[in-house]
Amino acid sequence: MRKLLFVGSALAIVLASFNVIADGKATYDASCAACHVAGVAGAPKVGDSAAWKDRVAQGMDTMVEHAIKGYQGKAGYMPPKGGFANLSDDQVKEAVAYMVENSK
Ligand code: HEC
Repeated sequence: MRKLLFVGSALAIVLASFNVIADGKATYDASCAACHVAGVAGAPKVGDSAAWKDRVAQGMDTMVEHAIKGYQGKAGYMPPKGGFANLSDDQVKEAVAYMVENSK
């Protein structure tokens, strides 16, 4: 029984993280891809692991904060929430998770 519970909760965690990535993809496609697919204005391209390595090293919290509040970096200007003020902080966070997951 205990084993079953363990398997059940492990599965729930896997499914939950899968959901985050799936939601993140939708937000990414709609709001972030415009710059982050082609590297417009210095945006790190999703899938370019070299471009993300140092960013990932800062930690997820810093990257998420930069994505939510916007920031001027060495490569260019990342607008707050990519310019989509209607996005919730959680949606932006999910999109960052999706981008990082696909840039390893
Ligand atoms: C108008 C173009 C543009 C859009 C749209 C855009 N970004 Fe960016 N983003 C940038 C640029 C340029 C940088 C690089 C800034 C630098 O480091 O010099 C960047 C950097 C980032 C980083 C790296 C932050 C860090 O700390 O290194 C993350 C994460 C990010 N963007 C997430 C997002 C998310 C999530 C969205 C959609 C909600 C999005 N971006 C939409 C231009 C954009």
